[in-house]
Amino acid sequence: MAKVVVTGKIPAVALERLRAEHTVDAWEDESLISRDELLRRVAGTDAIVSLLTEKIDAALLDAAGKQLRSVSNVAVGYNNIDVPACRERNVLVTNTPGVLTEATADIAMALILMSTRRLAEGERVIRAQQPWQWGMFYMLGSSIQGSQLGIVGMGQIGAAVARRARAFGMTIAYTKRSPLDAETAKELNATHMELDELLATSDVVSLHCPYSPETHHLMNASTIGKMKKSAYLINTARGPVVDEEALATALQQGKIAGAGLDVFEKEPTVHQALIGLDNAVLIPHLGSATVETRTAMANLAVTNALAVLSGKTAPNLVG
Ligand code: GLV
Repeated sequence: MAKVVVTGKIPAVALERLRAEHTVDAWEDESLISRDELLRRVAGTDAIVSLLTEKIDAALLDAAGKQLRSVSNVAVGYNNIDVPACRERNVLVTNTPGVLTEATADIAMALILMSTRRLAEGERVIRAQQPWQWGMFYMLGSSIQGSQLGIVGMGQIGAAVARRARAFGMTIAYTKRSPLDAETAKELNATHMELDELLATSDVVSLHCPYSPETHHLMNASTIGKMKKSAYLINTARGPVVDEEALATALQQGKIAGAGLDVFEKEPTVHQALIGLDNAVLIPHLGSATVETRTAMANLAVTNALAVLSGKTAPNLVG
């Protein structure tokens, strides 16, 4: 039996699969584990199942000790984990791709509709019991039929968003290091572009790239400035891909039409300047937040941890 630390509350079915084979020390409170508590608990553990809210850095790996074999993130993004520090210590890192693709794409599509059709703003009017009246010119948004969606980072989630957007009559442009294979490009009828061209021509720009030093503030005053004045920026990837301060300024000054954000630079804090803006739709990191998806993510992370602990190749190794 190995020792496994689970850094946050995960669905019981997944936890039970771990408990059936190993000694599990799981943080089962809804609130986040404190750094000190986590450092204390990981000492002597063989595997860590981590949530994206916990930083798995060199100090934590050292606190765990040399017997640590794996860190299994319950997320597809793994920017909370210092992968080179894990590699140096022969600790394998895994993530949960695939199982959250559709749920996250749903949220991106929802944000596209909410932003372009001013749904959150409309809802606020009703809830505030403000007077309103159907009117020819009342609360008009923008139609997405026939408009261009620019997908920045055409991976599995980007492609799933593109499929949805096509059903809404949008055309697809995308950035990707190596262009899509011919079959997927044909299925999505998607045009490969450099970022600048995509920004200058898209009516909606949706971010689906991983967060890394290269994508830190990829969307900043300069790149946002390349977008159309009538365009919308959607972020369901990671908050720091967007410079929130620059975005807030652009939204205030009407440099772009709107934004839909599921992720933020300093979660759970949201930049104060965004809070008062009607043309920003703000939701609290709900991309993968369905019962089914969170269960599948936890199960996949556990499958990865169990594989490493039994000497098998984990299905979702990263780095
Ligand atoms: C969620 O944000 C994830 O990366 O899985």
